[in-house]
Amino acid sequence: MTELEQFAAPGSEWWRSAVIYQIYPRSFADASGDGIGDLPGITGRLDALQELGIDAIWLSPFMTSPQKDAGYDVADYRDVDPIFGTLADFDEMLAQAHARGIRVIVDLVPNHSSDQHAWFQEALKAGPGSRERARYVFRDGRGENGELPPNNWESVFGGGMWQRVTEADGTPGQWYLHIFDATQPDFDWTNEEVKEEFRSILRFWLDRGVDGFRVDVAHGMVKEAGLPDYAPVADADSMGGGEENVPYWGQDGVHDIYRDWHQVMAEYDGDRALCGEAWLPTLKKTALWVRPDEMHQTFNFPYMMTEWDAAKIRDIIRESLDEFGKVGAPSTWVLSNHDVIRHASRLALTADSPQGDGIGPLSAGKPDPSAGLSRARAATTAMLALPGSSYLYQGEELGLPEAMEIPDEFRQDPTWFRTNGERYGRDGCRVPIPWESGAPAFGFNTTGDSWLPQPGEWATFARDVEQADATSTLNLYKELLRLRRERDLGIGSLVWEDLGEQTVAFRRGDLHVAVNLGDAPLELGDDVTFVVQSQPFDGTALPTDHATWYTKG
Ligand code: NOJ
Repeated sequence: MTELEQFAAPGSEWWRSAVIYQIYPRSFADASGDGIGDLPGITGRLDALQELGIDAIWLSPFMTSPQKDAGYDVADYRDVDPIFGTLADFDEMLAQAHARGIRVIVDLVPNHSSDQHAWFQEALKAGPGSRERARYVFRDGRGENGELPPNNWESVFGGGMWQRVTEADGTPGQWYLHIFDATQPDFDWTNEEVKEEFRSILRFWLDRGVDGFRVDVAHGMVKEAGLPDYAPVADADSMGGGEENVPYWGQDGVHDIYRDWHQVMAEYDGDRALCGEAWLPTLKKTALWVRPDEMHQTFNFPYMMTEWDAAKIRDIIRESLDEFGKVGAPSTWVLSNHDVIRHASRLALTADSPQGDGIGPLSAGKPDPSAGLSRARAATTAMLALPGSSYLYQGEELGLPEAMEIPDEFRQDPTWFRTNGERYGRDGCRVPIPWESGAPAFGFNTTGDSWLPQPGEWATFARDVEQADATSTLNLYKELLRLRRERDLGIGSLVWEDLGEQTVAFRRGDLHVAVNLGDAPLELGDDVTFVVQSQPFDGTALPTDHATWYTKG
């Protein structure tokens, strides 16, 4: 046995150990019946989340938006988009969540706005050199007549990162930068007005009572001075990662912004928290986002993107606890979100699928559904025993797989359009979730409309079906969350155990955790008492792709 003990950073703030459930509002529950989920829909389903046993919810954006990137293109940061409801609906949802002991984190999108934001419209009208244009990244083009983009950067969603505008007099004009879609112009974060505006937006939501923010593209807001040419390495994660020095990812200047925001958060009571979405090449670099005077959490994407390989999983857990521990922050753990293939499919893919490409009807390497579900249940069983905070993505508690057969005409991810269908994009993990097997749209609403079609076989994943089945994924999650709370597993230390090369094994006090990634069953000994099994099995040998929590003696 290796007696290497690793601690999650100590401290009592709620976010150090919380299990946070991501709600993707357009696909969670639809009270209005228009086929797109909404805030009253969420309020109506909070009991189910309380019953699940999570500590907090994070809502993907519901602010005013033309929805060119599913709300990550915000036109008004201080209002609710009519498709999701009203500010009063938000206040009601927040109050109802708090009444159930559930904290609420909202998504903040500070790297870019929508091109329909008043500031961007003013910038278009005001022309080159104006104060209005200085809030965004406008530049003259290269070439004799400015007909070439200012540099060679490539958008995350495909195509170039620059869009040329037509000036008020009808002539071809300057270019503006957009890391994502052309409808998502980047702010210039060296601009004082931008900084002041976002402090005010933070306060707007903090005053309403939110418990924190998930900060979109937290690694992209500052660009290297001079905007030097850069072509990404072929296998870079599309949202970042890849190489160490990318002129638009992970620039040092971002840290000043978070130090500033940290102060704003500290003005409020209740341990309000910032969680950064920062795709970076290493955990060492990621940990810089959560130094004591910066953000409180950051997503652990290197963990999420680790393949189903025992040695790699052990290494990434070890490194996560080390690197975050060094800066006094908890590690976070996450297996699925609205940008990646659901882990019940991803963990059994047999061909590469880079982040953001998705998987569709013609993709190679589609997963075996039963292996995928086994691995997903095992992975989650291990994750929820780790010290730190865990993120869950709506529908994973039902074991939902990726929707892989969405017909082309329904696709909405800008990636699909900007690459002419070469990359499917992220629609497959965003399909509205099933609540009742026999109801229209599986209980997502009462009309049967759904902005993305739901696979027919999702009837078997519906919450009411799983609720009634003691061995369902839903009941596994409930049991894991109940025991995690009872045993306070979110804080404290972990002792590694050596049960063989193909296993991930550690101990939390008297509770042993083991995952078997090998081909053969793993004998655990006669003196084991199983506390949880990721899937039911007989005897004392842990089958392939299974995990368990157990005690001995
Ligand atoms: C990251 C978000 O998670 C993703 O969904 C979005 O498309 C980009 N940021 C742009 O805001």
